[in-house]
Amino acid sequence: MAYPYVSDREVRVLSKYFGDPAQRRIDTYVERGGYKALEKALGMSPDDVIEEVKASGLRGRGGAGFPTGVKWSFMPKDSSRPHYLLCNADESEPGTFKDRELIRWDPHQLIEGCLIAAYAIRAQHVYIYCRGEFFETTQVLARALEDAYARGYVGENILDSGHTIDITIHMGAGAYICGEETGLMNSVEGRRGQPRVKPPFPAAVGVFGMPSTINNVETLSAVPHIVMNGGAWYRQWGTEKSPGTKLFCVSGHVNKPGNYELPLGFPLAELIEDVCGGVRDGHALKAVIPGGSSVPIINAEEAMRCTLDYEGCIEVGTMLGCASVIVMDETADIVKQVRRMVDFYAHESCGQCTPCREGSAWTAKILRRIEDGRGTEEDLETLMDMTQQMVGTTICVLSDSVAAPVQSSIQKFRDEYLALIRRGERVGAA
Ligand SMILES: Cc1cc2nc3c(=O)[nH]c(=O)nc-3n(C[C@H](O)[C@H](O)[C@H](O)COP(=O)(O)O)c2cc1C
Ligand code: SF4
Repeated sequence: MAYPYVSDREVRVLSKYFGDPAQRRIDTYVERGGYKALEKALGMSPDDVIEEVKASGLRGRGGAGFPTGVKWSFMPKDSSRPHYLLCNADESEPGTFKDRELIRWDPHQLIEGCLIAAYAIRAQHVYIYCRGEFFETTQVLARALEDAYARGYVGENILDSGHTIDITIHMGAGAYICGEETGLMNSVEGRRGQPRVKPPFPAAVGVFGMPSTINNVETLSAVPHIVMNGGAWYRQWGTEKSPGTKLFCVSGHVNKPGNYELPLGFPLAELIEDVCGGVRDGHALKAVIPGGSSVPIINAEEAMRCTLDYEGCIEVGTMLGCASVIVMDETADIVKQVRRMVDFYAHESCGQCTPCREGSAWTAKILRRIEDGRGTEEDLETLMDMTQQMVGTTICVLSDSVAAPVQSSIQKFRDEYLALIRRGERVGAA
């Protein structure tokens, strides 16, 4: 079966077998070299595995880009208390659709990554937390896990190593906030999925009160390749500070939207033009959100000089996030798009923090008023002021995610807001 979204600019490490259902079968996976990295890791000390991942420079693919090996090294070295690995497969950020594909096409790659990570952090139990709506994806994963148990890759005394690592698949119930790491831990424990105040950090007090590490699906899927080939091998792609390859989920107004695996540092302009076949119907580019809906929007001029790595995005005033590139052409209604994002966050706010609960709901209301032609110029100042108070004042960063698209769009596309407001004034005056 041909996978439709391919480009000769890609470097397919994690996505090599996208489109090939045979890869889901354990026999095929093993024939193609699968579970060899696990064998290799079990022959190393846990600390050496951590050092190899540190050497690769791999950074968390769940959005924050925190160095994975460094995160693992925060786990206590003694195993007197149970340790846990939590794999975050909640993937609900608008514009993001990579983790479900990684699981669907290559479930054993993730299982192997989880086993190696668990071994490195001295965890005997892994929870893979799957988004509630991922029925097919979770079925594929469950089938692969059953096969891996049957072959002795998971469970008691894996590969006769004396180590026991169990994996449990836990399905969420469709709440975006359960993707936040401490909300996820509460949800696994059977509590309401609300983020916890940090500190304490999960490596000290995590799920069930025990030391825990949370990693994204893409992060863990990269681990077998790094362990097998070495950290230096992984650094052949990307930049000094953002090494390796990354899956880019491209959606919106391009001719070929889809998932593309590219070296970090790839120019955004080339992603749109060469990889995705350009902006649809020959329209001009208006705006891009390069990292999923919670990062600042950039205009066409900024997009043309943006490179897709953690530092390159910061240079043009945005963030790489989980690399979910939303492309908008000249026909896009920026105010409407921002209002839709804010509606999403207002709906998903867990309600614990006043700035987030009240701020997101009021921001959505004001944006709708502007969109309907009933806004005033003062509303823009209110939006800027109110969203400023939503940044850095809450338990988790969902609140900041509301502020980012609102503030950046008012700064860069003020004319669009003013046009709606003035149209309303004219309608009112007529
Ligand atoms: C509101 C919110 C939702 C999040 N959703 C996800 C998610 O669906 N998947 C994910 O991997 N990380 C998500 N994160 C980030 C996680 O909290 C955490 O940083 C990540 O899973 C760590 O993995 P990494 O180090 O491999 O990136 C979310 C964060 C916030 C604040
Ligand atoms: S910022 Fe929002 S989503 Fe996060 S804990 Fe506070 S109320 Fe909940």
